[in-house]
Amino acid sequence: MMRNFAWLCRAVVLLGISVVATSQAQTKAAPALIGFDPSTKVFRINAADTTLVMGINESGQVQTLYWGEHLSAKDHFAVAKAMPGASSFDLPVTTTPQEFVAWGGGLFVEPDLKITFPDGNRDLVLKYVSHTIDANRLSIVMKDISREVYVTLQYEADAETGILRRSAVVENRTEAPFTIEQIAAGTWNLPRGTDYRLRYLTGRWAGEWSLQEQPVNPGKVVLESRRGTTGAQNNPWFAIDRSGSADQDEGGVWFGALGWSGSWQISVEQDALQQVRITGGPNAFDFGYLLKKGERFQTPCFYGGYSAHGIGGASRLLHRFEVNSLLPHHPDSKLRPVLYNSWEATGFDVDEAGQMSLAEKAAKIGVERFVMDDGWFGQRKNDHAGLGDWYVNPQKFPHGLKPLIDKVHSLKMDFGLWVEPEMVNPDSDLYRKHPDWVLEFPGRPHTEARHQLVLNLARPDVRAYVYGFLDKLLKENDISFLKWDYNRNWSEPGWPAVPQEQEKNVYIDFIRNYYSILDELRHEHPKVEIESCSGGGSRVDLGVMQYTDEVWPSDNTDAYDRLLIQNGFTYAYTPATMMAWVTDSPNWVNNRALSLEYRFLSSMQGSLGIGANLNQWKPEDFATARQMVERYKSIRETVQRGALYRLLTPEHNSEQSITETVSRDGDQAVVFAFLHSSQENYPFPRIFLRGLDEGATYSISAFAGKLAEGTPTQASGSYWEHHGIDVDLHGDFQAMAFTLKRSR
Ligand code: GLA
Repeated sequence: MMRNFAWLCRAVVLLGISVVATSQAQTKAAPALIGFDPSTKVFRINAADTTLVMGINESGQVQTLYWGEHLSAKDHFAVAKAMPGASSFDLPVTTTPQEFVAWGGGLFVEPDLKITFPDGNRDLVLKYVSHTIDANRLSIVMKDISREVYVTLQYEADAETGILRRSAVVENRTEAPFTIEQIAAGTWNLPRGTDYRLRYLTGRWAGEWSLQEQPVNPGKVVLESRRGTTGAQNNPWFAIDRSGSADQDEGGVWFGALGWSGSWQISVEQDALQQVRITGGPNAFDFGYLLKKGERFQTPCFYGGYSAHGIGGASRLLHRFEVNSLLPHHPDSKLRPVLYNSWEATGFDVDEAGQMSLAEKAAKIGVERFVMDDGWFGQRKNDHAGLGDWYVNPQKFPHGLKPLIDKVHSLKMDFGLWVEPEMVNPDSDLYRKHPDWVLEFPGRPHTEARHQLVLNLARPDVRAYVYGFLDKLLKENDISFLKWDYNRNWSEPGWPAVPQEQEKNVYIDFIRNYYSILDELRHEHPKVEIESCSGGGSRVDLGVMQYTDEVWPSDNTDAYDRLLIQNGFTYAYTPATMMAWVTDSPNWVNNRALSLEYRFLSSMQGSLGIGANLNQWKPEDFATARQMVERYKSIRETVQRGALYRLLTPEHNSEQSITETVSRDGDQAVVFAFLHSSQENYPFPRIFLRGLDEGATYSISAFAGKLAEGTPTQASGSYWEHHGIDVDLHGDFQAMAFTLKRSR
């Protein structure tokens, strides 16, 4: 039975009379306030440090009047007036910044909605009908000028961070199905200007999370995935500032992220009149969603916010929002346990004795969760076979998984398992039985990647199979954690079992089923935690984050490369979800040798895991690891929940990098410093801390490496921020870390 789950914004569509309401916000922060002035028809959302103002203009369009830093309630906004057309070539529908605009009536900028009706008509012009305000939620209903097509714009304001969650619901109240050819959650309109800078994230396998920047010029930049999944090539996040003026902690930054794990697009467009618009939703490429009579289509959520405190301020808001409002169990999401994963140690060669022996060693260093990776099921000896056959391999585990799980529990760890549910190897019983279960265009080749094909999860029978085997696995075994992998992207995305006009619904229905399986599994097995992995960080977004507790940012576990990868990751996502394993040296990626301490310090900036072959460790490695794991436990709440300051980024081949995290209660700060290589005997740069209570006293202590001689053991927050701290770092690939503790 599928639960009636809210796969999107959890926002509701209410009909009724507008009221001005104050949020009964769940947090202690100032409540969000949504207001509507009937005399001017102006809406205003004030949340934390952000204000969004919209007005219904004379054409019934919902026009953006302002988005950015918080404005005083005294600032008055007059009735919205559509922009005049620029000429006979640019009509008002194109020149007026609108919150949600359909393709019709001569629109030439990116539309939020485009529909083809069965009679061939493709014109759609939406006008305001009504609205509802319910605490921190606003719903605005619009309707086409002649057809029974309704669109509800939904806004939900987060009182604590000012982040707005937007979505749109299209309702077909006509007598026939129609095809949605393009749809977005809505458009963010920036104050008009020509001096904007866009930052975004790009990557590839083993090289995810590179920060890019470029001016927003006339024209359009489209960040996207056509892969059927989030992808690493672009990640659905953006940040924009003016004149390239915002740095880590200063300057205004508008930012946003799309919560969708399928093909997606975010377009950033500077139109002919220099209006900058950011529109986001499922990718319009190869898109087409058949919406039948009486059906509703809800878009993925597009989140947006504003920080006056630079790009660092923007990511601190996102981190807080993710932990407090998105992650499973929010606002009480759990801290990540220290885990061990067998992949880099054993590859596919897992068996009962080998895993038990690794588990014994992992337990000795303070690991709390033992995870067996790929290789335990079907006829899985390598990546050529087995995916789809989710029975325990009888040669490797003659007594099932129970003896290993019992052993892991006896060592006071919980047990986790790798799965890749949406995939099948042609060499599997499942494929031999159900060759029609894969995405395919009949009569065309099936393009394999890593010797596997993608199951069509949009099909109800495939969904039932995938849910069924996972549910059984979790019922029959005491499993606390699934590492859910996804090691290729789509090809030949056909769905021949449904009528041709419905085939492209696969882009949406696949992802809805993916989310619904995660949701239902979590409901049925509440203690199970899930990691989203896709050959590394190819499925990380605010959509999947609602159903998964952590993510695997990259298969690249080189602790030096990881500094840049992790730096990029944290622009959009909280370190609380960022798994980072300590693996063997030299590392398989670059053949780079790094000390065990360096590898630990790199990983301790996120959620610590160990992925090394413990069978090859020497006694002194165990001693170092034990000590580092213990220290990590004393700072993990700060690292996973605190406010992250990038004091010096590893971007642009910087020789040094430094992060600082201040705990939520302000009592602890943790600093990690890394040196690539000393040059010409220059000292390591002085470290100036941020985010401390200037009047309070803090004691400092190094827990790896050395502070410079003469560093006081205690000083004020002001001293640590303004005088700064020297550390003793020189040589190649050196690292150190220290903490500050506030005196009570
Ligand atoms: C992917 C993951 C790895 C590992 C392998 C197993 O590449 O990212 O961590 O689980 O699959 O096949």
